[in-house]
Amino acid sequence: MAVERTLTILKPDCVRKNLIGEVTRRIQEAGFKILAMKLTRLTKDTAGGFYAVHKERPFFGELTDFMSSGPCVPMILEKENAVADFRKFIGATNPAEAAEGTIRAEFADSVGENIVHGSDSVENGKIEAAYFFAESEVVANQA
Ligand code: CMP
Repeated sequence: MAVERTLTILKPDCVRKNLIGEVTRRIQEAGFKILAMKLTRLTKDTAGGFYAVHKERPFFGELTDFMSSGPCVPMILEKENAVADFRKFIGATNPAEAAEGTIRAEFADSVGENIVHGSDSVENGKIEAAYFFAESEVVANQA
């Protein structure tokens, strides 16, 4: 299996619930290597840019309000099969449908406030990673 990178965001609800440490610990325990991370706060505009593919969706306003409601923690993660494995690890978008033991099943309140984001493809992961991190902030060589 190929080594891949994926972009996650510990969303504002994750930060508000003081779960940065717990979720990060689980991410590392699951074998994902953190290549970049930061605490940042999106504006409604920058949240809209990140989620531009959802611009026409009815929940876009709610999504960008929520994502700009407080600090968040984006990270670039690396692992074999990272994109699919991370999505399995966090569970379905709607926590009511998320498998037992997943991050969203355990910690998320609703489809809108669902604790974490995970890229849906390697290609989108690259675009999303570049949205938050300069190449110089990515620590690829950790030997
Ligand atoms: P995420 O994986 O970050 O990508 C898009 C986000 O849109 C998704 O997680 C959800 O948090 C959000 N989303 C999807 N559907 C809805 C919905 N029906 N209402 C509000 N937010 C939604």
